[in-house]
Amino acid sequence: MIFSHANLPFDFNALRLFPDIVNSYSVHFFESLGSTNDKARMLAAAGCENLTVIIADRQTEGRGRFGRKWHSPPGVNIYMSIVLAKISNPLITLLNYAVALAVARAVRESAGIDVRTKWPNDLYCSGKKFCGILTESVSSGGRILYSVTGIGINVNQAKEELPDNIRENTTGISIERGGGVARGDIIIQVMQYLNYYLRLLETDPKVIRKEWCEISMTVGSRVNAVVADTLIEGEAVSLDEHGALIVRLDTGESITLTGREPVSPRLKKFTEY
Ligand code: BTN
Repeated sequence: MIFSHANLPFDFNALRLFPDIVNSYSVHFFESLGSTNDKARMLAAAGCENLTVIIADRQTEGRGRFGRKWHSPPGVNIYMSIVLAKISNPLITLLNYAVALAVARAVRESAGIDVRTKWPNDLYCSGKKFCGILTESVSSGGRILYSVTGIGINVNQAKEELPDNIRENTTGISIERGGGVARGDIIIQVMQYLNYYLRLLETDPKVIRKEWCEISMTVGSRVNAVVADTLIEGEAVSLDEHGALIVRLDTGESITLTGREPVSPRLKKFTEY
């Protein structure tokens, strides 16, 4: 664990209390970083250990999917990235689901709120997003060299401190439970469940898909997306073995969505309703 006890925020205390869990990773803590994903990618490129974890108290260049900004103020939220240096190609498409399940269970158990998964990479509570996951991989000759999965969780940020453009559709753990939570308590649980779900990903990946679907707000709902310049509509049914979303179209035909479909200027994004 690479941080001094002096600079660790007081609500990270649990990291000192559970050395067995913390020491199953190689944890680096920073007061401020551009992006924990960028730092993790740098360390991974330099050959850092498998299961290196980067945590920052704030990010100045936090990133989301499609190059969106991830609001990352100090002292309130969790910004962490994990390096997987040994992930095999077929499992990479299920990695986000394994991480989402680990965070969902960690948050449910440490904060007592109801958490749902939203395809492809988000966690929601009361119909609003509070956590985003961003996996970036580097391959060579068709083989994955390493992947970095970043997790952003809104923990103790007040509603009025959320940026205007996302306030309506965004929430946080303290907003939902009506009281703050120590970030360290959640991080410890995330690390513990990550151990469990990353192992399950190797040994029995279909359970990952099953559990993700069980707590999903996407499966069973109406969805639309643009595929090959055509707007398609139907019902999300489940995930296929590669992690693509199976959608039963109104025509009766089934198609799969990978989450990398081009963003439509008209639709702006994959939507569900
Ligand atoms: C999304 O919902 O678009 C994904 C958001 C991912 C945000 C996290 S915060 C920690 C890590 N570092 C980043 O720059 N991004 C991810």
